[in-house]
Amino acid sequence: MLIAMTRGVSPDMGRCELTHLAREVIDLDLARAQHRQYEACLAALGCEIRRLPPEPALPDSVFVEDTALVLDELALIARPGAASRRPETQSVAEALKPYRSLATIQAPGTLDGGDVLRIGRALYVGLSSRSDPAGLEQLRAAVAPWGYTVRGVPVDGCLHLKSAVTQVAEDTLLINPAWVDSSAFGNLNLLEVDPSEPLAANALLIDTTVLFPAAYPSTRRRLEEQGISVKVVEVSELAKAEGGVTCCSLIFNE
Ligand code: GLY
Repeated sequence: MLIAMTRGVSPDMGRCELTHLAREVIDLDLARAQHRQYEACLAALGCEIRRLPPEPALPDSVFVEDTALVLDELALIARPGAASRRPETQSVAEALKPYRSLATIQAPGTLDGGDVLRIGRALYVGLSSRSDPAGLEQLRAAVAPWGYTVRGVPVDGCLHLKSAVTQVAEDTLLINPAWVDSSAFGNLNLLEVDPSEPLAANALLIDTTVLFPAAYPSTRRRLEEQGISVKVVEVSELAKAEGGVTCCSLIFNE
């Protein structure tokens, strides 16, 4: 069974971290409704939703992806690059304990889950404003016993590696090549976002369907032209907090 861990929208989300976006007013009621719809889409795609306890005082706590990396063999609790986000990890570690043995990124290393793209047994790690080489090396050591390869990929111009590139089919990545070097991804097929939609590379692949934001219709057409099944979700208010569709869940096999 696929589990999707999620967490509700904090009433303080208007005070979220912002790195590349200007602050805009967030309609909290709409954000909550969009988040519920996002969860409904995950459920329709076969995920069992497990909601984490709310963290009303932590503005970015809806973006649970950044707090951990869950592999079949272990869960690695992140140490987010933004200090304001570090308290988010404690409840996530508690919630993951029944499912996986845990390892934890230690100070001074930093790693955000949004910077880790897993393709089979290859882990691509964004070297971003949030994740540093010390965090990457700790990840490398934690997963070495299971034969994962770990490769650092510089990210420039966006928040996380998965703002710039995500998997959309078994052998295909959706990418904004302005933010990450396409040559890092070897023999995988690369589908570029429409240039008018630079933020469109963040898509969430579940089985053979891609959950994709309504805001990027031109890139959506590119996905569909490749025969990729797309389920559209409206996440405009979550996007104002610099979050995408991968950010709002931790998805793993029970
Ligand atoms: N607001 C999402 C983040 O900066 O982590």
